[in-house]
Amino acid sequence: MGRVLCIANQKGGVGKTTTAVNLAVTMAKAGAQILLVDLDPQCNATTGLGQEPTKSHPLVDSAPVRQGVCKTGTTRLDLLPGTRSFRDVETLTRDDQQQADRVREHLARGFTAYDFVLIDCPPSLGQLTKTALASSTEVLMPIQCEYFAMEGLAQMIEVIRQVIEQKTRWLEFGGIVLTMYDHTLELTREVDQEVREFFGEIVYQTVIPRDVAVAEAPSHGKSVIDYAPRARGARAYTELCMEVLQRD
Ligand SMILES: Nc1ncnc2c1ncn2[C@@H]1O[C@H](COP(=O)(O)OP(=O)(O)O)[C@@H](O)[C@H]1O
Ligand SMILES: [Mg+2]
Repeated sequence: MGRVLCIANQKGGVGKTTTAVNLAVTMAKAGAQILLVDLDPQCNATTGLGQEPTKSHPLVDSAPVRQGVCKTGTTRLDLLPGTRSFRDVETLTRDDQQQADRVREHLARGFTAYDFVLIDCPPSLGQLTKTALASSTEVLMPIQCEYFAMEGLAQMIEVIRQVIEQKTRWLEFGGIVLTMYDHTLELTREVDQEVREFFGEIVYQTVIPRDVAVAEAPSHGKSVIDYAPRARGARAYTELCMEVLQRD
């Protein structure tokens, strides 16, 4: 099995989905076989790639993951779409260890055909995020350059630590990426310094600038790389992709 990246941060709006979609597309363009798993009931990764959420989720019905996977507009990039079905979301988020283990094993069986799997997590520390962490080999945490950037991260780190301590798992704290970066703002520079002092070299050198093209791309069902290849955000995600690939 290849690397499984869990894109997680319990805060909403920090750039998880944007990072998941754009990294998935850049990695596929770089030649890797990629599966993007949309685990957020909001299904933003699914619609952001111009796909439809599923009515019934393969993870709930115990159908093989490959049956639920669809092709995307990008060669080598497959998507396991999210679901908004109330029944499915309720089942997947239930705080039930057996159910969580079943979903995790089920996911893992579907991962073997890919070089990289990226999991877009919901903005919570609930069961879905825990299951995603337990299914992954590394956590990739986007941090938005804003005043409360580090707030609440202690809980997130504690949950990650608990998964890492279960010796049967392969999870590592893979990396941190600073998003919505505006180098003209004093605040951005302060957050950058604070995050790098706290987390050290797991913080990626590449930062993702605040760029309107990045925000517009999903409404066209595209990654920023396809929507505006020359935009700063597109270049940044391509650079981040190279850094992620090099860290192997
Ligand atoms: N680099 C960026 N520049 C401008 N807007 C961005 C950038 N990254 C994300 N956004 C926008 O910010 C919002 C939240 O991003 P999103 O990836 O959905 O966060 P999350 O998945 O963590 O909730 C979205 O509207 C998205 O388009
Ligand atoms: Mg999201």
